[in-house]
Amino acid sequence: MELETLTVEIEAPRATITFNRPDKKNAMNPQMHLDMNTALDALEERRDLKVLVITGSGNSFSAGMDLEECFLQPFEDADLFYRTNLAALKWFQRLKAFPLVTIAQVNGYAFGGGFEVTGLCDLAVAAEDVKFGLSEINFGIFPAGGATWAVTHNMPRKQALYYILTGATLTGTEAAQYGLVNQAVPAEELEAAVDAMVARIVNKNPVTLRLAKEVYEATTTMDLPRAIDYDQAKLWELSRLSDNEWITVALKQFEKRSFRPGIATYSRTEADDASKRSA
Ligand code: COA
Repeated sequence: MELETLTVEIEAPRATITFNRPDKKNAMNPQMHLDMNTALDALEERRDLKVLVITGSGNSFSAGMDLEECFLQPFEDADLFYRTNLAALKWFQRLKAFPLVTIAQVNGYAFGGGFEVTGLCDLAVAAEDVKFGLSEINFGIFPAGGATWAVTHNMPRKQALYYILTGATLTGTEAAQYGLVNQAVPAEELEAAVDAMVARIVNKNPVTLRLAKEVYEATTTMDLPRAIDYDQAKLWELSRLSDNEWITVALKQFEKRSFRPGIATYSRTEADDASKRSA
């Protein structure tokens, strides 16, 4: 799928969205926000996907919101200013709750919205030399539109406040130390590292992946009794939606000693996926 500001490639069960304004360091302009909503709509419709990778073309992941098109140009008209940014706020929230496993593949610069997208994805791999920054304080505001949320939900308090208050940059290596990304690798190994992460996910049951995310997200705000109540209900939902595959296929294979769940995933076929997706 070719959109004005994005490339969307599908190699089921993986989809890849590439921010594609390299001459502007992939700054997110209003068109990109509309395009992201269009792309997420299209991907959500499909039944054959498990993973969404987000990356940037050229030498940047994203330099964040397009400061001219999103803020300077519409500023005189309050209604236009509000509407210009609405599409951004919409897709940031959608990304956080997206039914596929989302992975940020971070290259080059990741400022403001680029930092936020890294934090909103479920998983992230960065090149060691990436420059992450919450530059908002440098131009007189604070990280908004979910950016502060993304920082506080990925980094320890002292580090979060340090980068919010100083606008200092951090490298991919530092981002891995603080938990903003899972892993930092030399730039030339970035794609291979993401491919390896994708490979560990695509052999899983798609219904289980989706519900695992839902249980994680929902239970972060619950006390233990509620969390247990919720996860038990979701386990019943999983069993129903996947024809009890965890018992009838996975644990049966364990019974026959044909796999060890501690070190591998049980054997599944594409046909298994197809039947689960149509549930
Ligand atoms: N909004 C709009 N345009 C941007 C942009 C942004 N966030 N980030 C980069 N660009 C544009 C530059 O203005 C320049 O456009 P031009 O060729 O028309 O002059 C082009 O992208 C290339 O950027 P440039 O500044 O020349 O590259 P650089 O390698 O010297 O610096 C950055 C890269 C990312 C450090 C620098 O562009 C920058 O500070 N950008 C703003 C980052 C930011 O604060 N983002 C947070 C927004 S919430």
